[in-house]
Amino acid sequence: MPTIDKSGEKRNLPTNNYFWPLKRYLDMYKKSLDDPEGFWGEQAKLLDWDKPWDKVLDWKPPYARWFVGGRLNVSTQCVDRHAKTWRKNKVAIYWEGETGDTRTLSYADLYHEVNRFAFALKKLGVKKGDRIVIYLPMIPELTIAMLACARLGAIHCVVFSGFSAQAIADRVNDSNAKVIITANGGYRRGKILPLKEIVDEAVKLSPGIEKVLVVKYTGHEAAFDAKTDVWLSDLMDGAGIHVEPESMEATDPLFILYTSGTTGKPKGILHGTAGYLLYAAKTLQWAFNPKDDSIWWCTADAGWITGHSYVVYAPLALGLTSVIYEGAPDFPAIDRWWHIIEKYGVTIFYTSPTAIRMFMRNGEDWLAKHDLSSLQVLGSVGEAINPEAWEWYYKFVGAENCPIVDTWWQTETGGFMISPCVGIQSYPLKPGSATLPMPGVDPVVLDADGKENCPNTTGFIAIRKPWPGMLLDVYGNPDIYQKTYWSRFPGFYAPGDYSMKDDDGYWWLLGRADEVIKVSGHRISTAELEHAVVGHTAVAEAAATSKPDEVKGEAIVLFVILRKGQTPSVELKKELVKHLRTAIGTVATPEEVLFVDKLPKTRSGKIMRRVLKAVAAGASIGDVTTLDDQTSVAEALQAYEDLKAAAAKSLHHKE
Ligand code: PRX
Repeated sequence: MPTIDKSGEKRNLPTNNYFWPLKRYLDMYKKSLDDPEGFWGEQAKLLDWDKPWDKVLDWKPPYARWFVGGRLNVSTQCVDRHAKTWRKNKVAIYWEGETGDTRTLSYADLYHEVNRFAFALKKLGVKKGDRIVIYLPMIPELTIAMLACARLGAIHCVVFSGFSAQAIADRVNDSNAKVIITANGGYRRGKILPLKEIVDEAVKLSPGIEKVLVVKYTGHEAAFDAKTDVWLSDLMDGAGIHVEPESMEATDPLFILYTSGTTGKPKGILHGTAGYLLYAAKTLQWAFNPKDDSIWWCTADAGWITGHSYVVYAPLALGLTSVIYEGAPDFPAIDRWWHIIEKYGVTIFYTSPTAIRMFMRNGEDWLAKHDLSSLQVLGSVGEAINPEAWEWYYKFVGAENCPIVDTWWQTETGGFMISPCVGIQSYPLKPGSATLPMPGVDPVVLDADGKENCPNTTGFIAIRKPWPGMLLDVYGNPDIYQKTYWSRFPGFYAPGDYSMKDDDGYWWLLGRADEVIKVSGHRISTAELEHAVVGHTAVAEAAATSKPDEVKGEAIVLFVILRKGQTPSVELKKELVKHLRTAIGTVATPEEVLFVDKLPKTRSGKIMRRVLKAVAAGASIGDVTTLDDQTSVAEALQAYEDLKAAAAKSLHHKE
């Protein structure tokens, strides 16, 4: 039996016979925890530094600053350094539009495009430290715009192109951005997304916006206001080949990405430069084992963290060839993705459980039409993958030849935290488990009182040590940073997930322990939904929860108390659905809206979330776990019966 840590401190390393073959992983893991500075200092050779760091880690809890004193530029790491080697003519991006248009960009092309874009931004007066909101479809310009901001040291803030005008404005105003980059439109399921029109609405709500930079993509006409709007192509006139990159401090911010938490307002997660880039790149290598001839395809939109880290920064830092697809997975038919895998010979494919379950529901015949034999490794992210979907993915997509790399991580972590490490050593997988921690990641399962749990007991996952991809802060809100991540278990980073570690030391991530709902892997908070729905004039009070969904993982259920004089109706439900889509975006579309007279509350006025969840799911209240819920059983049962009766009376509405 391998005794992993001879010092006697057990840590949470696997300790049974199962792990005999794991020497390589365990040695590396042990080194990473015993001497984090030595370990990460060694790993940092992956990057080319303008100036080496003075100190690997400055850890003043809850703030970790990595590679202090070091300098580099992220766009140089992702583009220039490859364009100077044999990779100059290597394909960086195979892009496929929904309409079937394609573009192929070599590293030399990408270098050229990033510099031209940076030139345009400079002409607009963009400089180091400015915040730039990007609202673009999945076209090469999205990657290029992010890299161009990084080149100038401007902080980008990408807003997913499914979000509403209000959601854009909230992010613009919170980040004090002066410029929005958008396109006249994008394509989704054969329709044109009127992105510029949505931005025009957002600009009306964003007094600080000075310029809107527009990429001409779709053919349709969009309104143009010469005072604020400017075409990207017009600004590129006279662009030379090179824009000098800003040499950034390793600890300077690279981007803000807003994500939902337990408050009504999304938080601006602030990520740094060198630590973030190194962590994203190393974790991709460790988890997926890419080679120079790999064809990498991460299907995420760059509007989410998965797109930031594993569509843009990590694959380009590693000089890989990526596929980027603009559109819907089932357009024009359900085999669009399999078609793309066959066409480009994708070797590593990384997607979400929601997508896998959608394909599974449509049957294997769609797969059989395509040659998927190029595939070598398959990945999953965004929510727990249920064993049934895992098996299907393994058997039918990977033809029982490809390991399934189930990566658990978060917007805040910057990169994978718990995941199989095919690039370090192959070891047995268990369907539904994200397996073992990445090197440098030191997780533990705690009970509600912060005591370490024994194996096989569900508790809260907490992380003991900082890692280089860890968020720098919550933008403009250090109190929220401290409160959200560091106060639940003092001294530990608290991700907010339930988890369990089994006898073999394998980790099982069991969903959110807080008021965050995951719809198709996208994060949305109950508070955000409630805040938005009470903004409607007919609504007095509302409570949001979720119920399990076969494809999406979870679906939103809203309990609504109407104002006096308002009558429940199907029309009103439709109106509330529309209201939410306008206030937040399509992600916020509820599956059900139930009109009730009262909400289940404790004597201190706190909503009994467990009761809402049980009624929404049609489950018994005992089936719904919330380790933190202090409500008495009798109170909860009474509230449960009352709410169930009220919900049954309410008109059911499905969109
Ligand atoms: O609950 C976990 C779930 O997604 C949350 C993070 O969401 P977000 O910041 O939007 O990032 C999604 C992409 C990294 C986590 O707190 N989650 C993500 N991946 C997994 C997962 N839950 C279980 N297994 C996973 N592989």
